Amino acid sequence: MPHRPAAGPRGAARRTLRTGPDIAMKILSGTALAASFEDDLKREAAALTGQGIRPGLAVIQVGEEPATQVYVRSKVKTAERVGMHSVDHKLPATVTQADLEAVVDRLNRAPHINGVLCQMPLPPHLDGGRITRLIDPLKDVDCFHPYNVGLLALGEPRFLPCTPAGILELLTRSGIAVRGKHTVVLGRSNIVGRPLSILLSQKGWDATVTVCHSRSEGLVELARQADILVAALGKPEFVRAEMVKPGAVVIDVGVNRVADPTARRGYRLCGDVHFAGVAPRTSAITPVPGGVGPMTIAMLLRNTLVGVRLQHGLAEG
Ligand code: GUN
Repeated sequence: MPHRPAAGPRGAARRTLRTGPDIAMKILSGTALAASFEDDLKREAAALTGQGIRPGLAVIQVGEEPATQVYVRSKVKTAERVGMHSVDHKLPATVTQADLEAVVDRLNRAPHINGVLCQMPLPPHLDGGRITRLIDPLKDVDCFHPYNVGLLALGEPRFLPCTPAGILELLTRSGIAVRGKHTVVLGRSNIVGRPLSILLSQKGWDATVTVCHSRSEGLVELARQADILVAALGKPEFVRAEMVKPGAVVIDVGVNRVADPTARRGYRLCGDVHFAGVAPRTSAITPVPGGVGPMTIAMLLRNTLVGVRLQHGLAEG
């Protein structure tokens, strides 16, 4: 299987806290793991640059939604930190479909750009599906294009979708095996829940997968059966202690801003999991921020290197 994460625990990626007499809970730090990943990415980017191919990533951002700006800044900054060329295309919220498509078309044809992504969601007057289909499948570092989603579903991926791949790396490198485990995924989005459930059920990962969504009946009982519970619904602190089996592993994909008059900025960030209530019941849990987010960006940059190899006919690094 291509891009299978390296096996084995990496101590830097987790902290262990004793939360009770029986359960030692680990905090799975995506920040620490992504930092060690960045060293590998830096080396590979430098090797390609030495061969005259400096990897290039283009990020298109439409409008000035604060959360989108934070994500895009983080992607561009990390790309630069590992020695890639990065381009941040900021377009006004009023941009027309034709003008946005012209930008994608230009980036598709730019030889120094190996990865192209358009940050979603787009303003309602724009057709995100058309943009996703317009991005060259060989530069589709998000793995959103139907061609790449099809390859993924067939078990022959070129790119891996960034957040699902980041979750799998985080689990594997923390020594948490998914084989044979009941994994319950809360949320069926095209970005996280659906591709993650596809990957987990495939040969090589071999998890038993249940996908739950807003219309699932008995969601609390289903969640309680999970050995590994993934929360990706976009609902602040939705997962409470009573939804979690004692000793389960909990992966929180949510990044939500909730109003908090006591916070300097007037809001605080929280995940889809009520961390304080849930963490003591778990054997391992990801924090927000600092859990899945940094791993998503590391996988995006790994995909940019995959893009370089695909476009230049180079063997896997
Ligand atoms: N919006 C939220 N997550 C993502 C992502 O991973 N890629 C893009 N393009 N948009 C997003």
